[in-house]
Amino acid sequence: MSGAPSSPRAGQARAEFARRFSAEPRVFFAPGRVNLIGAHLDYSGGDVLPLALDRGIYVAAALRTDGRILLASLDEDRTVEVAASAVGTRQDPAHGWASYPLGVFRWFRELTGRDSGFAMMFAGDLPIASGLSSSAAIEVATATALDALHGTALAKDELALLGYRAETEYVGLKCGIMDQFASALGRAGHALLLHCHSRTWEHVPLDPAAFDVLVLDTRKPRTLATTGFNERVRECAAAHAALRAAGIDRPYLAAYTAEDLQRAGDRLQGVLRRRARHVVTEMQRVGEAVAALRAGDVVRLGRCLDASHRSTAEDYEVSCAELDEITASARACPGVFGARLTGAGFGGCGIALVTPGAADAVADSVAARYEARFGIAPRFEVLHPGSGPRELHF
Ligand code: GLA
Repeated sequence: MSGAPSSPRAGQARAEFARRFSAEPRVFFAPGRVNLIGAHLDYSGGDVLPLALDRGIYVAAALRTDGRILLASLDEDRTVEVAASAVGTRQDPAHGWASYPLGVFRWFRELTGRDSGFAMMFAGDLPIASGLSSSAAIEVATATALDALHGTALAKDELALLGYRAETEYVGLKCGIMDQFASALGRAGHALLLHCHSRTWEHVPLDPAAFDVLVLDTRKPRTLATTGFNERVRECAAAHAALRAAGIDRPYLAAYTAEDLQRAGDRLQGVLRRRARHVVTEMQRVGEAVAALRAGDVVRLGRCLDASHRSTAEDYEVSCAELDEITASARACPGVFGARLTGAGFGGCGIALVTPGAADAVADSVAARYEARFGIAPRFEVLHPGSGPRELHF
């Protein structure tokens, strides 16, 4: 798929590439995402419902014949330079964000045997830094560029898996597959219903007249995200192990039912019981949300989001005072169907589903309450669904 550039950032990346690397690049795009519902289910094998955005990451890219990899971004002056042959199995933390493209290269080389060097210049137009999966978009943009430059014709889910492996094995965040699949498989006007255990998916149509997705940025940095995130992944594995030890054997945690948890009795207790209860009830909510979306019932969809937020806050404990406040005050506004945290939680962004045209009034009202309590102005943006990765032609 290809298209015309929709943002000046694409042309800027191309011009800066030519200036810094003295060569003519090709230019690619991969979208960021928001997750409508299905919080922290992907690494437990559950169903999630993200949508790709019409904003994301642009990369100007060309192969090199000298075996070097050069990675740069419009937002900083430095260029990360490494020999392609020196890219190993784990990231060097000194490389910062460049670890994402390096990790993708590492797995692309493994899959295709193509090991030549390359240069890339990145630029983004995601309005908000945390919570919209800019790292997955960097990974999918890199995979899309390498695939096109080498003519390897990989399928979209293979591109997503290169990103997933870069993130989990090279960078070391034990995330699930949602963000990379949402970026790689995005389709304009649709959400993606992704069954994470089987890695199969359906595109669910969105009615643009039904609601707007308003992103609520708490501006609380997610410094604890990595620690808290990997801890949740471990807790879910432990809850699954406890259920199996109790003689209730299912292939992944999201496959369990409320009756299973009841049967386990006190063999599943405390924190692990609450984590499992979130997973099991969130699976039901995703099913209900998809049914509501297909029936055009936005009120019911909104209620699913509200209940999802409560469960992530109380049972899963990945919310925080800022996310609770910003979603609660959005919920209290006229024209809001529902609100929840999106992404990993611990800070970052929430989303609210709002009547088209109501976003500005909601933002004003939420901002006043939030600023009075936390002394910092939150940010808001209505974001639109977009399509998946593609080459841009000028
Ligand atoms: C982050 C991870 C995803 C997913 C979400 C929570 O975005 O990268 O894999 O687990 O958190 O739903």
